[in-house]
Amino acid sequence: MALNKKVEEVLNKQINAEFWSAYMYLSMSSYLEKKGLSGFAHWLKMQYHEENEHGMKLFEYIIERDGRVLLEPIKKVPHEWDGILDLFEQVLEHEKHVTSLINKCMNTAQEESDHATVSMLQWFVDEQVEEESTSRDILDKLRIIGGEDGQGLYMMNEEFRGRTLE
Ligand code: FEO
Repeated sequence: MALNKKVEEVLNKQINAEFWSAYMYLSMSSYLEKKGLSGFAHWLKMQYHEENEHGMKLFEYIIERDGRVLLEPIKKVPHEWDGILDLFEQVLEHEKHVTSLINKCMNTAQEESDHATVSMLQWFVDEQVEEESTSRDILDKLRIIGGEDGQGLYMMNEEFRGRTLE
């Protein structure tokens, strides 16, 4: 059965949101690279790849369901933050926003009785729990070390160099 038009529309919007997220994390990576925090910059670059994968997962799904992917322009992303604490506060806020977007997609799929899309979106629902939890943990650690403290920040920066794609 071809993809329901309302569902197709919200999934296309979500593709744009995932690619916007990727672009924003890459912008954050560039900002932190300039601040000499290359471990954090690497972590955010991995996040960029993850968001691209999220966008592509939706892209492939629409095609698999005989729908039509319509790619819209990616809006401008921020370039500046008020330090690393502010940056990770924005990461958490953004992930909460993405969770609300995924929930809207899920609501539409349920309203349209599109069970296949509900099943596909469940992966994103679970992923958002993990993404919010991870960014909350990082933020908590940064608050404990006071954000800009030398030793603690240095150690976190080293730890973050090791992030690989899952
Ligand atoms: Fe694709 Fe971070 O949500």
